[in-house]
Amino acid sequence: MSAEILNGVEMAAEVRSEVASTVQEMKSKHSVTPGLAVVLVGDDPASAVYVRSKERAAVEAGMVSKGIVLPAETSQKEVLEVVRALNDDPVYHGVLVQLPLPSHIDENAVIEAVDPGKDVDGLHPYNMGLLMAGRSRFAPATPAGIQHMLVHSGNDPEGKHVVVCGRSNIVGKPIANMLMQRGPGGNATVTVCHTRTRDLPSITRQADILIAAVGQPQMITADMVKVGVVVIDVGVNRVEDASRKRGYRLVGDVDFEAVSEKAKAITPVPGGVGPMTIAMLLRNTVDAARRTIHPEHSE
Ligand code: GUN
Repeated sequence: MSAEILNGVEMAAEVRSEVASTVQEMKSKHSVTPGLAVVLVGDDPASAVYVRSKERAAVEAGMVSKGIVLPAETSQKEVLEVVRALNDDPVYHGVLVQLPLPSHIDENAVIEAVDPGKDVDGLHPYNMGLLMAGRSRFAPATPAGIQHMLVHSGNDPEGKHVVVCGRSNIVGKPIANMLMQRGPGGNATVTVCHTRTRDLPSITRQADILIAAVGQPQMITADMVKVGVVVIDVGVNRVEDASRKRGYRLVGDVDFEAVSEKAKAITPVPGGVGPMTIAMLLRNTVDAARRTIHPEHSE
């Protein structure tokens, strides 16, 4: 079997075009332009790329977008002040702080400082709680992108055994929760694996849908999957490659070539989950703006 490639660029373009139409409608009918503010602390090159992509995508969708880049040595107090000023600024309906933060800053304090109504990353404990209770307001963007890809590629998780490798707050925990919820796009049986899991391959081989979010280049090998599996690769790992001008190439958490031979469908890296993350972030920002027009729909 040679797997169907799940094209995240194409699927994301569809979502982004829907978002752009909604933005136009909000502008013309309600004179509201959705706004997204993205804060980056430090100069991590990968984070800088992500932040620029988010800003650019927001502008392309017709939104107001602002990127705020703070030096790595910015104090926690200063970061919190920036976040609070954005919370109070009605121009921005969505506020996010790119993670990871420099080690002298308490990530939880920053995440909790974001107004839950503007937390388009869905990482505030209040929004995580709503998600877990099945009353999701802002689903974190990467898990939302994964769920969208599964449903829209004809691989609905209902009744399937989904194995999630990785238990991060950004991907593993929320996606496991979302796919086990009762309702459309959910109803799966979910197993979560992590660094302390014993005999990982015996569990990954049971997966109808395998979601790899471990941050280890090509860790999921062909012997770890069954024939016909649907594979979602969330990993974005830089590996040295002297043949490339920039000196590295991007690989996922999955050995793409070998696993493609057994899988029914698989997401590539790059061009899979990554573009979907941005599209879903834009969608969350539009939802946040819509709630300012129709506050009765707010939690
Ligand atoms: N770093 C990696 N992924 C994400 C994300 O989805 N949101 C934020 N804020 N930072 C990230």
